Amino acid sequence: MDHVEIRPCRAEDIAPLDRHLPTPGASTRHADRFARQEAGHGTYLVAWRGGIPVGNGQVRWDGCAAPEVRALLGDCPEFNGLDVTAELRGRGIGTALVRAAEELARARGRTALGLGVAHDNTRAAALYARLGYEPVTEYTDRYSSTDAAGRTRHHADVATFLVRTLGRAAD
Ligand SMILES: CC(C)(COP(=O)(O)OP(=O)(O)OC[C@H]1O[C@@H](n2cnc3c(N)ncnc32)[C@H](O)[C@@H]1OP(=O)(O)O)[C@@H](O)C(=O)NCCC(=O)NCCS
Repeated sequence: MDHVEIRPCRAEDIAPLDRHLPTPGASTRHADRFARQEAGHGTYLVAWRGGIPVGNGQVRWDGCAAPEVRALLGDCPEFNGLDVTAELRGRGIGTALVRAAEELARARGRTALGLGVAHDNTRAAALYARLGYEPVTEYTDRYSSTDAAGRTRHHADVATFLVRTLGRAAD
């Protein structure tokens, strides 16, 4: 992998994130995740390469928002919204972000990390299986997005929640 640095988001990172990893319409995705981090509910990890953000994902310390998952796993931390710049996929950046999230969870004494994957996202599912994540439950991943015309769209994806038990740092 090219040299990539992964670190928690800082306030001054929001503008480059919006510029290099934009979301359509008026979405405040990066700012929202940073606000969750500031409130102590998450850690928003950003991958940097040559001074440019090339990937991101947030650890939700308060767990997955879906009630079906919470009923089974409570506040098991979730690594959510993983995304890598399209031209740089397949070079290990996604793997490095997941491993960084696991390290953070271990450092906080958490014993497992979970993540959700939509049923139609077979490549991401293959990656998570390779990284040791095992399916726990099916659920409906509900979220909203804003399209290029500024309209809010509500999504309800059929998804699987996967969990990896975290052992010692060398595992
Ligand atoms: C899924 C994703 C984060 C993986 O990041 P990455 O940096 O490509 O991951 P790595 O390089 O560590 O691992 C690559 C593996 O990811 C998987 N993968 C998923 N989508 C991929 C894509 N579009 N291009 C390349 N690999 C992809 C493959 O299993 C691939 O394995 P391979 O190298 O044997 O083909 C990235 O592809 C992405 O941003 N996809 C779009 C958003 C998304 O689906 N996020 C996950 C939501 S659950």
